[in-house]
Amino acid sequence: MSTVTASARREHRVTVRSLAQRKRQGEPFTMLTAYDFTFARIFDAAGIDLLLVGDSLANVVQGCDTTLPVTLDEVIYHTRLVARGARRSLVVADMPFGSYQVGPEDAVRSAIRFVKEAGAHAVKLEGGSLVAETIERIVRAQVPVMGHIGLTPQSVNAMGGYRVQGRSESGRARILEDARAVQEAGAFAVVLEGIPADLGREISQTLDIPTIGIGAGPDCDGQVLVMHDLLGLGDSPPSFAKQYAPLGALAGEAARAFAEEVLNRKFPDSMHSYR
Ligand code: KIV
Repeated sequence: MSTVTASARREHRVTVRSLAQRKRQGEPFTMLTAYDFTFARIFDAAGIDLLLVGDSLANVVQGCDTTLPVTLDEVIYHTRLVARGARRSLVVADMPFGSYQVGPEDAVRSAIRFVKEAGAHAVKLEGGSLVAETIERIVRAQVPVMGHIGLTPQSVNAMGGYRVQGRSESGRARILEDARAVQEAGAFAVVLEGIPADLGREISQTLDIPTIGIGAGPDCDGQVLVMHDLLGLGDSPPSFAKQYAPLGALAGEAARAFAEEVLNRKFPDSMHSYR
């Protein structure tokens, strides 16, 4: 079997239509989180299909314990930076806690801000049947919506911690119902987080819209990782995440080497000084 490389697909902007086509053709796709221009540009050039400005911004950039504190203005700011670096990737902005729960009208207002002020192509929000009406209203305002079901970090207090969802029969049935509700409401794709692999497969086979897995097994239509897990920049990566490069360790080494040369008056040398 030949290996497919991401850069082989770099020509056209990814759209909600091209993702639907990829699902129909059984072609997997990729999403990574990004929070600034530099990494957006790197991931875009590497052929990553979607860039998610996740509310994980609260954890990995702001150092918070949960995703709850990050504000709408903060995610809008980071989305603007990412959108500047994305030439081909579809930019999805994560609606933070409090920006869509009050009611559909408030949610539509928040979603429009992401498009107008930040250049997002789509928004993502957490929840299934409970937010179906909200998804419908945002979609009616012509803003594409990505759903997010299973382990939904914004519900950490209601769930009593972060735990794999859908292990019981009733939990499984509820998540399947959520998946159908999100599709029915008009979402163009749905993130499946923290569910057993066989449930990830069943949802992906049941839905017409693409599924994007994170801790949901290998049979989702696409896969997403938080960039800090991909690059070894975090302290405690979840067990489902795979580190593809030890950037955290390399950055530490570089900083130590710099400090040693400065302390020993080796940097800057004549090569790195103006005459
Ligand atoms: O905020 C985020 O990074 C996410 C991903 C885990 C899908 O929602």
